Amino acid sequence: MMESLWLDRESPFTSDSLPDEKHFDTIVVGAGITGLVAALLLSRAGQRVVVFEARTLGAVTTGNTTGKLSLLQGGVLSALRGQYALRVVQAYMEANKTGQAWLTQYLEQQGVPFQRRTAITFATTDDGGQRLRKEAAVSRDVGLDVHFSRDPGLPFPVVEALELEGQAQFHPMEVLDTLAKDVRKHGGLIVEGVQVQNVGSDRPLEVFTRKGTFTADTVVLATGTPILDRGLYFTKLEPNRSYAAALRPQAGTKIPQAMYLSIDAPTRSQRTHPTPDGELLLVGGYGHTGGRATSPKKHLDDLLGWASHHYPGAEVTHTWSAQDYQATNLMPFFGKLPRGHGRIFFGTGYNKWGMSNGVAAALSMTSDILGGQSDWATTIHHRVTSPQGAFQAVRLNAGTAKRMIEDKARVRSNPEITDETRPPEGTGVVGLYKGEPAAVSTVDGKVCLVSASCAHLGGLLGWNDADKSWDCPLHGSRFTPEGKYLEGPATHHLQKSVGKTRD
Ligand SMILES: Cc1cc2nc3c(=O)[nH]c(=O)nc-3n(C[C@H](O)[C@H](O)[C@H](O)COP(=O)(O)OP(=O)(O)OC[C@H]3O[C@@H](n4cnc5c(N)ncnc54)[C@H](O)[C@@H]3O)c2cc1C
Ligand code: FES
Repeated sequence: MMESLWLDRESPFTSDSLPDEKHFDTIVVGAGITGLVAALLLSRAGQRVVVFEARTLGAVTTGNTTGKLSLLQGGVLSALRGQYALRVVQAYMEANKTGQAWLTQYLEQQGVPFQRRTAITFATTDDGGQRLRKEAAVSRDVGLDVHFSRDPGLPFPVVEALELEGQAQFHPMEVLDTLAKDVRKHGGLIVEGVQVQNVGSDRPLEVFTRKGTFTADTVVLATGTPILDRGLYFTKLEPNRSYAAALRPQAGTKIPQAMYLSIDAPTRSQRTHPTPDGELLLVGGYGHTGGRATSPKKHLDDLLGWASHHYPGAEVTHTWSAQDYQATNLMPFFGKLPRGHGRIFFGTGYNKWGMSNGVAAALSMTSDILGGQSDWATTIHHRVTSPQGAFQAVRLNAGTAKRMIEDKARVRSNPEITDETRPPEGTGVVGLYKGEPAAVSTVDGKVCLVSASCAHLGGLLGWNDADKSWDCPLHGSRFTPEGKYLEGPATHHLQKSVGKTRD
């Protein structure tokens, strides 16, 4: 079973019940790092706040992250510098420094354990070495005290490695548990199992959920990709799904102690995690665009193969996967959503660096709500989308449109689905059932037939053989074999018209 090391535990958190009161100063949607930091800052400032979470605390990306809090971020800074003036990249770094400083200070105050570690980006090819030198130059331009090394302590040769001392790593669910407790201490509510389906335009804002309608003066969408289509942000965000595993090394194996990330593709990430039974090795990477891999399981297998090659005899204790969103213009989006009277806020596009960017987004959104703003946020808001960013958005959407046409042809040419269709265990197929696109899968002996049209905008779903889910290749929505919403911009489950379960 795929379950992250972080979520495999007895959770100390229990959900609040659905409140009787119907109006709040702010409704925060989503209980990941962005939502909980925002909820804490607002409730500390005296606001009446409720967090509505569709699933459970940290269930989506924050509970499945690798939990590195680092300003050295692979090739991110040089990629940004390729599109923006230096002052904009400096503003990005200021945002991340502020997010990192806020979180480490908060964890220290609250007594949440975290480990200071050197962050290392390494190259295993000459091309990677060149990219690393560009990254080093931009890192220095924005004030990072980076230095090169030829021996970063890994069990394989590297061409070069770039190091930044004094970064941090933690258990992301311990962070969320602490934030959640603190939100409550300041009078906020956190209600799990409440999916927000829409937000109205009049004031106060009406927030429509599966469990009733509430109103708020302000709404913060901290849902990963934004759930409302206003501003069409889902067309400017690429979901990137990647894999992770925890391994117990063979007795006597020395695990490298830094936090590592490769600059060459496929991305490979590494860190340690202390447990009472000794240190675990965490590996991650081998990502792809969400919903577009032929076999996600192959990506996971490749990650595990790489880990076992370099750490022979290590026992795999957990495997998991998650997705995060990359903006086509590479810069995180946070602030006011269009057509929301300046009262609907959102934060997304952290490009796998949400531990600092998510906190920065929460700090910026909440100071906007409470009436302040920082220079870095103003610079990031006023950056002009670069020609590369605009081109990338066109490319992404052209790819999406092409994919839709190809998928329509594919579903017609696939074998027809009938009441007798029973795919082999752990697999799923799409085809026409009574003339409608349908998806049928068998998991743990249970055959489920659901609509194959994504509940967001109708993309044709594909089977994810690693997570055993139906994933959309267009904007990253995902559903269980029974058609229940898991993540992404959709706000509904899959249509029931063809849905039924057979044992
Ligand atoms: C494999 C992987 C490794 C990563 N490693 C790192 C790392 O080492 N360091 C780092 O800085 N970043 C890392 N990241 C990125 C980081 O984890 C994310 O950027 C961050 O967790 C995003 O937090 P969030 O609060 O915005 O979203 P989430 O944690 O996804 O929270 C959003 C919440 O909103 C809820 N929601 C969605 N729709 C609705 C709705 N309609 N109604 C109610 N609730 C809803 C979801 O259920 C979810 O709980 C990694 C990402 C991945 C995929
Ligand atoms: S996620 Fe947009 S159509 Fe599926």
